[in-house]
Amino acid sequence: MKYFIQTLGCAMNYSDSERVAAALGKLGYSGAKKEGDADLYIFNTCSIRQKGEDRVFGKLMALEARKRHGENLLVGLTGCMVRRTSTKNSPRRKIDKLVRDLDPVDFVFRIEDAKGLGRILKDAAKKHAIRKTKEKRIRHQDHQEIMTDSCDRLDYLDIKPVYNSTFQVFVPIQIGCDKYCTYCIVPYSRGREQSRPMEEILAECKSLVKKGCKEITLVGQTVNSYGLSGLDKESGLFNGVKEPFIRLLGKIDKLRALGLDRLRFSSPHPYDYSDSLIKVHAKLKTLPPHFHIPVQAGSDETLKRMNRRYTAADYKELIRKIRATIPGASVTTDIIVGFCGETKRDFAQTLTLFKDIKWDMAFLARYSPRPGTVSQKFFKDDVPRAEKARRWHALNNLLKKFSLAYNKKLVGKTLEVLVEKYDPKLKECEGKSRENKLVQFPGEASMVGTIQKVKITKALDWNLKGQTRSAKGAECPKKNKS
Ligand code: SAH
Ligand code: SF4
Ligand code: F3S
Repeated sequence: MKYFIQTLGCAMNYSDSERVAAALGKLGYSGAKKEGDADLYIFNTCSIRQKGEDRVFGKLMALEARKRHGENLLVGLTGCMVRRTSTKNSPRRKIDKLVRDLDPVDFVFRIEDAKGLGRILKDAAKKHAIRKTKEKRIRHQDHQEIMTDSCDRLDYLDIKPVYNSTFQVFVPIQIGCDKYCTYCIVPYSRGREQSRPMEEILAECKSLVKKGCKEITLVGQTVNSYGLSGLDKESGLFNGVKEPFIRLLGKIDKLRALGLDRLRFSSPHPYDYSDSLIKVHAKLKTLPPHFHIPVQAGSDETLKRMNRRYTAADYKELIRKIRATIPGASVTTDIIVGFCGETKRDFAQTLTLFKDIKWDMAFLARYSPRPGTVSQKFFKDDVPRAEKARRWHALNNLLKKFSLAYNKKLVGKTLEVLVEKYDPKLKECEGKSRENKLVQFPGEASMVGTIQKVKITKALDWNLKGQTRSAKGAECPKKNKS
């Protein structure tokens, strides 16, 4: 039996898929090289915007056609389209309408239930067989029966993942989110914030680094609030410590002695960004000079309606402190344009903030109403599509300008690039610098997974071109322990 997992969405989902792959491996499945070779197709879905869900609907139609042509294919769905409201744990014990309406899906499971995949698949296969003999569809309500209850939502994280890379890995440190930004589906799809015990994270990181991992990215929805929702009521401590995220970074940083080069984290929330976190960032050698801190909007009115809990001035001050402590750090962000009630004046403030901060890179999104969120229920999606597009392009033009200006400053400099891939046609390697800049340079397949010193020769809008000193390159020597 062969499986194929299609992952959409954020780093957390990619990491989760590695655990699903491991669970399937244990059940005797092997990964299909091509989608068409698989008997079992699993979608790990993303609901952050309608676009992501539409991709799933489109793909499901194609899979349904294959099933109609007699292919014996089992289709499963997990990830954020399987809302917490769609499970037995829900007080309403009601299946989510979204999932109920998806025809070719044989089973759905919450990612927290990945450990129960054996039973889930057995039930699904049984129903699949009944469906085949009786030539009728599975009744949608059946989905509900094949979902398991999980007492401890963090439990699935101790599945040992089948990592997609040996040298660059996402490690989850927290699930869910307690911030409840009014536009965001995550608290509904992923549930309340819960942090993984520190020892478990450290054990995973250590074993990765021992096997040659060079870059670890700690993932969670608001990583810098790690542990804060689980503080012990009496002592005010999490896992016996006061500032759990900072302590965690300090402990993982020690893995530098074993070969860890870069420790990244994504995404921190401005509200929980402490001065001590900035200081620690400057001190710990594995933490690269790159900060991804989502701002979402530049108008205080909009930020308030989004329930972001900070003002544009607070955000500016945070970046000022970061740049004063770590000169030359690259700073990137996420912005939503066209949120409910965002006037032209509000948007002009986002433009002004953009010109003030000059982010190195920004992920720009047009507001997409998500069912069940506060903004969808109580606010009006009143910025017309064309206006959202205009605002998006206005920001993108600025971004392009700043990105090119930063890139030009790097010409002539030598950057350390962790090589992620090699293109045999172009004979070109591609990877990211410590500052998270995308760099391409002539190289060899054997460089994948190594860190190369690359002299930057050309700046483009979104990426850099460079050269190693010799055609064969020179892997960066391991730095001295500090
Ligand atoms: N936890 C992170 C963001 C995770 S979601 C934070 O708080 O910053 C990733 C990004 O998707 C968000 O930063 C936001 O820019 C975008 N996003 C979330 N909900 C959205 C929506 N309803 N419409 C458009 N973009 C959205
Ligand atoms: Fe969503 Fe806000 Fe939580 Fe980020 S902090 S995941 S945007 S609710
Ligand atoms: Fe998408 Fe869920 Fe991540 S909605 S962005 S996959 S947490």
